[in-house]
This record gives sequence, structure tokens and C-alpha cells, in this order.
Amino acid sequence: MTKLEVSLIWQGCARGKFTVRAKGCILAVLRWGTADAPLENWGPFAYVPVDPAGNGAFFFEGFRGIPAEATHVWAACWAGDFSSREDVSVPIPAQFLPAADMPEDTLRFSVLTDLHLSSKPWTIRQALRSAESEFIFLLGDSSNDGLKEQFDAFRACIEETVPEKIILPVTGNHDVLHASRDASQDGCGNYAAFQKYLLQKDEAQGYGISFDPEGRAYALKIGSLDVIGLQCVTDKRRFLFPEERQIDWLEDRLRLTDADWHIILCHAPLLKHNPNRNEGMPYLDKNRRLQEIVDRTGGIIFLNGHTHVSPNGPGGNGEFDKPRRNIYLDCGSVVATDTSRIDGLMTPDWKDGCVTELAVARDLVEIRMRSVRTGIGFSRGYYRFPTGNTEAGGPYYIQPEKKGHMRPVRE
Ligand SMILES: [Fe+2]
Repeated sequence: MTKLEVSLIWQGCARGKFTVRAKGCILAVLRWGTADAPLENWGPFAYVPVDPAGNGAFFFEGFRGIPAEATHVWAACWAGDFSSREDVSVPIPAQFLPAADMPEDTLRFSVLTDLHLSSKPWTIRQALRSAESEFIFLLGDSSNDGLKEQFDAFRACIEETVPEKIILPVTGNHDVLHASRDASQDGCGNYAAFQKYLLQKDEAQGYGISFDPEGRAYALKIGSLDVIGLQCVTDKRRFLFPEERQIDWLEDRLRLTDADWHIILCHAPLLKHNPNRNEGMPYLDKNRRLQEIVDRTGGIIFLNGHTHVSPNGPGGNGEFDKPRRNIYLDCGSVVATDTSRIDGLMTPDWKDGCVTELAVARDLVEIRMRSVRTGIGFSRGYYRFPTGNTEAGGPYYIQPEKKGHMRPVRE
């Protein structure tokens, strides 16, 4: 008899063990669903080998969420010769179902990063069209080589597809001219003109933007949120904050601006929250100072790109530092994502370019990542962080500093 068992740990969290008993089968495909069927818009979260005795098991690591519309887990169990399939489902126990819907005053943002426009703009148009929100964060490496013609092509894509949207960019290392290209040219100049075009458009729609004195950071209020663009790359593609002035400015902005959340856009991750861990070497100059400011402030959603790491990796790309009320999200790239850390079975679409949808309310933050190509949600790229009561006991969701699997940390 085919059987599926689910053993979860915390409400709304997918971390747990999924056990399949399916004699004569070779593979079980696990998905979220309702009592009637698997959810169509969400891809599988595991492809589980089944042994000759009929046993298969999957431990969902990391701290992904259970989608709000899911009430059941489904396993499609394939016969050894793939000639037939048996589907089995089991209800998610009531105490583990997500507690609340997103409130009405939730603000929504689409995040696109690492688009690497070279000469073919059709993927850029596809990515821009796939963004659901009226706000788009561009987290850098919008162009591949920092060339004027690449930014001009990007601008044409925006005007063709989403001319009315509020787009907030930051620079990536690839947005700066390569040092060997033209020493007489300001390596950051083409990006700077692109940013100016976008932010002037935003200002024309009524958003007041403040800049640091050197124009290397900016901020604006969107509803009850504060959004800060932090430029972390300088000429010659170095991850530098010249004389730390924009970090001083960031620190003042965080201290003086009242907001439910401060959302920081920064191309590269902080070392402690980089899924690659980068062999212990931070990308960001003054990484330690930035981390200290973020830790001290709290109420920060730190969004980065740069790594290209697939959201479908074992531990995932989202972290919630509950006592400090900080969220870190390494957003998957729009170009093919890196799946080299995935040991187990997977399908080619787990490498698909990614768009991230961020829904922010004071007490609940939801993160959905999905394929730009198909629009199907990555079940391994879904998070639902209850951010309301940081005093309460229970787990918080953060990775250890060294390379390795994520683990829960108890207060
Ligand atoms: Fe990149």
C-alpha cells in the first residue's frame, strides 16, 4: 500500500521529514496541494528516490514556508519502469498550517537581480513583464559590461514593458566598465546615467528621494517603509565604500527615520548571510561595520543579489534573525541560477532565472520566488516569517557563520 507521512516542527514552516512507503516504485515527487489536487502554480519541493523495499524519505532543511493555500502534501509515486503512477496525499496537521493571511495594508515589491544584459534584450523584457508589483527593485548587474549601449537597451525594454512602474536600482560590479576597457572613462558613469533616468521618473510620480552627499546612496519612504539603495561598487569593480561616507549616511538614515521596516538594497551580501559563505572572505568592504549597524538597528530587510545561487539549494536563501527582527534574502538571479550545491535529484527548471516577490506587513513578511520562464513558484523559494512577536520563544531562522547546512537556533 502506498503511504505518505509528514512530520513537521513549527507552524507555517516546511522544515521536517516526509516519508514515503511505495512498494514497486522508484521515485516519489512531493508537492503542496489541497484535498483535491496538487497546487498547479507551485513546483515540486523534492524528488525522492524509493529503494527496492519501497522506502523513500526527504528532510526539508532550511526554513521555507508552507504556502497559505496548501492544506495537503501530495506524493506522485512512479513505478520502476515509469509506466504508471500512484498519487497519495495527506493533510497537513491543523497546528502546522500557516496562521494568518497577509493583512490588507501589505506592501508588495518585485525583485530582479543579475540580469546581465549583453546583446539580447528579450530575457530582460520577459523578466520585467513577469514582475507582479508596481515597484521593482533592480539589485545590480543589470548590464553585463557596464556599456552605454547595454543601459540604453535596458531603458528601451523598460519603456516598452513597464513604463509606469516605480523602479529602484543599485549598481553591481558588472555595471561598472571593466578596468581594461577605457581608462579615460568614468567606469561608473553609464550606470549613473541609468540610475538618474530611473530615479527622475520615480520623482516625477511623486516620490521624494534623499541622496547622500556623493550620490552613492539614496532613500525614500514608501508607505510605512523606508527603502535605501546602497551603492557598494566603485570604479574598477571594487566592492568599496570610499572613506565610509555612505555608511555614515546610512547609519544616520536608519537612526533618524521612523519606519515599520528599513529595506536595504545592496548588490553583494553580508558575509554571515551569503549562502556561499565565500570561503570566509566578505565581498563588502566594511562588512563588519555594516553588520554591526544592521544588528544594532533591527527591523531591516537586507536584499542582495550577486551570488546567482539557486533558491532551490538545500538550505535556501532566506534567513530571519528573530530577536533582532532582521531578514536577509539572497535573491536568485534572472540569468540561470547556480545549482551546483544541490546533490540530490532535481529537474532542469530549478536552474531557471528567478523573480522574487516580497510582501511586507509589520508582523508578517512573505517571500515568493518563481521561474521567470514558466511563472511556476519554487516551493523551495517560499518563506513566511512571522515578525510580530520577537519576544516569544521558539526557533529563529538563521544560518551558522561557517559553510554548512542551516540549523535552527533556540533562544
Ligand atoms: Fe551577477
